[in-house]
Amino acid sequence: MYLKLVLATCLLTFFAVVLSAYARLSDAGLGCANWPACYEENALKERQPPQTGAARGHTSWQWKLHSQVVQLLGILAIAVCGLSWKKRKELRLSPLLPTLYLVLMVFMAVFGIWSFYHLPRPVIVSVHLAGGVAMLALLIWISLSQMTPAVTVDPVEAHKWRPFSWLGFVLLLVQILLGGWVSSNFAALACTDFPLCKGSLLPTMDFSCSLDNYLTSLSAEKLTAIHWVHRIGALLAVLYLSWLSARVMAVEGLRKIGKAILGLVVLQFVLGISNVLTGLPLAGVVLHNAVAMLLLATLVLLSFRLQNNICGAKI
Ligand code: HEM
Repeated sequence: MYLKLVLATCLLTFFAVVLSAYARLSDAGLGCANWPACYEENALKERQPPQTGAARGHTSWQWKLHSQVVQLLGILAIAVCGLSWKKRKELRLSPLLPTLYLVLMVFMAVFGIWSFYHLPRPVIVSVHLAGGVAMLALLIWISLSQMTPAVTVDPVEAHKWRPFSWLGFVLLLVQILLGGWVSSNFAALACTDFPLCKGSLLPTMDFSCSLDNYLTSLSAEKLTAIHWVHRIGALLAVLYLSWLSARVMAVEGLRKIGKAILGLVVLQFVLGISNVLTGLPLAGVVLHNAVAMLLLATLVLLSFRLQNNICGAKI
């Protein structure tokens, strides 16, 4: 019963993260009739002072549905945490992670209300994306701790690959946040070619960063730098995760996870490139977000398997 509750919350959190990307990207103008002019217009609108920012009003059906899903998630978070305390002996689960999950949920709710009028959009989007990702990772970990593993991994192999798995998780997290930074700064159209960017491997870029100037348009060089860094991050993440998946595929008990990581990382890379080359179709970019979350889920699964084999205890 508890496992079912956590799994349902997990699926709903995945849906909420992807739905929020869909709502945000629709607001940004992806899929609009006069693309890409609407994208430029929306980028300018977003840089109005937040106090006068009627343009930020979230009135579309996507945002209404999102807020209903989030309210339901709030109730589920209380249940996940409450039951973990009430039935902690029976579940053989420390209530630490469910409590952390509830605290994160409360933080996100408070931050969501406060940040709306006080912070620039890139910061709001990044914190929301990071929060969504953290909640998803926590829920997957809690679900896994309630399941009986079908296979076991040699403890020596588990010990060896554990730090590499966590490094992969961190790299992916950074890459996801870089993607959110591209999206929220409207930098997706800064390079429309691939593998070159503006016809060069190293285009003219400006890496200076100040959150004070968010009320003015970012220069083309700044947008290029934001977009280019996500590409370099993608290259590093793809190389590292492909290597890691190839290595863990050779370990008994981790073969399927290795294959899933490799498949998803290749899919994600191809999706990123095809989105750029085909002018950012809304469905393609939302899928890019969803695959990033699935990739994250597989890395949590890998880390859990390796961690659990060492500790041999439920977390
Ligand atoms: C492991 C590889 C990659 C990961 C994990 C990743 C992840 C992400 C994520 C999470 C976003 C934010 C989506 C959203 O919610 O708005 C994003 C945006 C983006 N990514 Fe990637 N990405 C990867 C590779 C690539 C590649 C290879 C390209 C193209 C060369 C690319 C191009 C873009 C672009 C243009 C955006 C902004 C689209 C928008 O406006 O939202 N990505 N990426």
